[in-house]
Amino acid sequence: MTIRGKLKALAFAAALAAGALVAPAARAEPFRVCADPDNLPFSKSEGPERGMYVELAELVGKQLNQPVEYTWYYTQMQRRALRNTILQDACDAVFALPANAEYKVRGLQRSQPFFQVGYAIVAAPTFAFKSLDDLKSQRIGVQYSSTPHLLVNQLEGFKSTTYRSAEEALGALAKGEVDVAFLWGPVAGYENKTRWASRWRVTPVSGHDLSGEVAVAVRSGKDDLAKAIDRALLELKPQIAALADKYGFPREAPINLALAQAPTKLRATALAQVRVPASLVVAVNDTVPAKPAKSKGAGAAKNSAPPEVAPAAPAAPVLSEAAQAGRVQFNDRCSHCHGSDGYSPVRERDVRYLKMRYSDKWQETATVTIKNGRPDAGMPTWKDILKESDLQQIISFLGTVQK
Ligand code: HEC
Repeated sequence: MTIRGKLKALAFAAALAAGALVAPAARAEPFRVCADPDNLPFSKSEGPERGMYVELAELVGKQLNQPVEYTWYYTQMQRRALRNTILQDACDAVFALPANAEYKVRGLQRSQPFFQVGYAIVAAPTFAFKSLDDLKSQRIGVQYSSTPHLLVNQLEGFKSTTYRSAEEALGALAKGEVDVAFLWGPVAGYENKTRWASRWRVTPVSGHDLSGEVAVAVRSGKDDLAKAIDRALLELKPQIAALADKYGFPREAPINLALAQAPTKLRATALAQVRVPASLVVAVNDTVPAKPAKSKGAGAAKNSAPPEVAPAAPAAPVLSEAAQAGRVQFNDRCSHCHGSDGYSPVRERDVRYLKMRYSDKWQETATVTIKNGRPDAGMPTWKDILKESDLQQIISFLGTVQK
C-alpha cells in the first residue's frame, strides 16, 4: 500500500473506531468493491439488471455512508481473481464468498453469513419430494461436473442426463427430455423467473455439500470494516430478502437430502465457486460428450406420467442448428472471458464487432485467432481442443451476433 493509501485507510479506520459516520457534506472515501462484470444473477457491470450482489453492495455502501466504486474482474478462476484484486488492495470487499470454515483464503476474513445458497430441484409445481429416494423414479437433468452430477452418479438407482449448462438443462426440462433438473439454485431460480415465466417450482435442497452460506470478504486486519459490514448486513435483512425475490433466488428452507448411508466422498466443488465454472469444462473437454451423455440406466423403462404440457417458452431468436450448437459451445468455453453470447464490457473482447473490425475477412481472422490464440494477449489456443466441426459451429454462431 502506498503511504497515501495507508493514511487514507488509517483515517477511515479512525473514523469508524470513533463511531463517527462521515458527514454527508464531507467527501467520503469510496467503498471499493470487486465484482464480476458478467455473472448474472449475481453481478453485472452494466445494463438494467445489476445482480443481487451489486445491489446489495450499493445498500451496504449507503449504510457505511460511502459511495461504491467497482473494480470489475472475471471470477471464473475464483482464487486467481482474489489474488489479483482484493489481495492487492484493488478493493475493500468482495461480494460474496462461501462462509464455511473449510473455504479458506489466506489474507481474507469474512463477515457474518448473510444468505444461504445451494442446489435446487426444478420441477413441475405438482412434483413433491422429501428425500433423494423420491427422485429415483425421475429422469434427472444435471450440469456436468456439478455436485448433483457427482452425487447421482455415485449412488445406485438414479437415471440422469448430463448437460453443459443450467440453461441447457432447463431447455431439456421444457422439452420433456428429463422430469426434474437438479441445478444451482440461484441460477435456476433466476432463469425460471426471467426466461420461463416461473413455470417450475425451484425447491432448495441441502445435505451432501449441496448448500451453504455466503459472506462478504474483506482483507485480514480490516476488522473495523468487517464489523461495519456486519452491522449493515444485519440492518439490511429485509432488503436482502427482497433482492433474493427480485432475482428469483430460492428462499425457502432447504429440504435435507442427506442419506442415512452417506455416499463415499463428494467433491466440494459447489461452494468453492459460486457457479460451476465453464473453465472446468474446458479443462476436461475431451471427455465432454458432444451430445448430452446418458448415464447407464437412462434407457430403462419409464413409468411415470409424461411431463405436463407447459405454456410456450418466451420467444428466443431462431438459430440454425449449427449456430445453436455453436452458441452452447461458446457459452460453455468462451463466455467467462468474452461474456455470454459474446457481449463483453471489455471492447477488445466483445466478439460482436468482428465483422466491423475485419469486414469480409472476419471469419478467416476469427478462425485463425481461435485456432492459434493470442497467447500474449490472453486468448488461449484452441486447435488441440476444438474439433473442426465445433469450430465451424462457433463461427456460425458468431455470425448471428455480428453488429
Ligand atoms: C482466458 C480468456 C479467453 C478465453 C477462454 C477465450 N478467449 Fe478469445 N480472446 C481473449 C482475449 C483477451 C482476446 C483479445 C486479444 C487481443 O486483444 O488481441 C481474445 C480474442 C478473441 C478473438 C479475436 C477478437 C478480435 O476482434 O480480434 C476471437 C474471435 C476470440 N477471442 C474467440 C474466442 C472463442 C471462440 C473462444 C472459445 C472457444 C475464446 N475466444 C476463448 C480471451 C479469451
